[in-house]
Amino acid sequence: MENPWLQIPLEDYEGHMSASNVQQLQMLDEVFEVVLNELSPKSLCVLGSTAGNGFQHLIQNAYDRVVGIDINFKYVAECRAWFIQDVPNLQLICADLNEIELTDSVFDLVHAALIFEYVDVEKLLSKIYKWLKPGGVLSVVLQLPSESLSAVSKTQFISVKILEPFIKLVEPDEFRKEAEKLGLICEEETEIKLSTGKRFVKVYFKR
Ligand SMILES: C[S@@+](CC[C@H](N)C(=O)[O-])C[C@H]1O[C@@H](n2cnc3c(N)ncnc32)[C@H](O)[C@@H]1O
Repeated sequence: MENPWLQIPLEDYEGHMSASNVQQLQMLDEVFEVVLNELSPKSLCVLGSTAGNGFQHLIQNAYDRVVGIDINFKYVAECRAWFIQDVPNLQLICADLNEIELTDSVFDLVHAALIFEYVDVEKLLSKIYKWLKPGGVLSVVLQLPSESLSAVSKTQFISVKILEPFIKLVEPDEFRKEAEKLGLICEEETEIKLSTGKRFVKVYFKR
């Protein structure tokens, strides 16, 4: 089966995520800025990098290596068009995170915001563990379940509805257990509540 993300035009994704009843594009942009400021990585990898939401925070900083990975080649192409000139040492990869292999022990930071909801958690976590340098950090943003709100908010952008049967919210305690089994240490957890009522958690795990 084709990955449903391949069927969502970028304009629909960004329109949906920035709609007044969603507001997640802005939240994720701010979270990425906070992560960069708090962790000051020299080498980083962004999983599910879309068209580079938040990548403007990478401009004019000295990074040894910045990698962005996304399955949607149109998102990757747009990200390249916007940022390849201005973000030093940027490499953009169009690939399925369930399949891709990277070199071990290369990143100070792996940033994974709202991506574990769409992949094989155990498999990706064990790969991230290997991709991180010893002492490197995985920053994760997970969407928390809500009794009153649907996992995929309703907006005018119909194509996004294709995610409804596919999204699988990840229980933070279960996620922590999986990460700890691999040897990742949970360092800090911050809850984020939007005015829409949706709640998220940002967690740092250190290798
Ligand atoms: C909710 S968005 C991520 C938001 C983004 N991290 C941010 O901070 O704004 C999910 C992204 O993951 C990508 N994606 C979903 N499944 C994927 C997979 N198996 N491999 C690679 N990318 C995937 C989608 O194409 C989409 O761009």
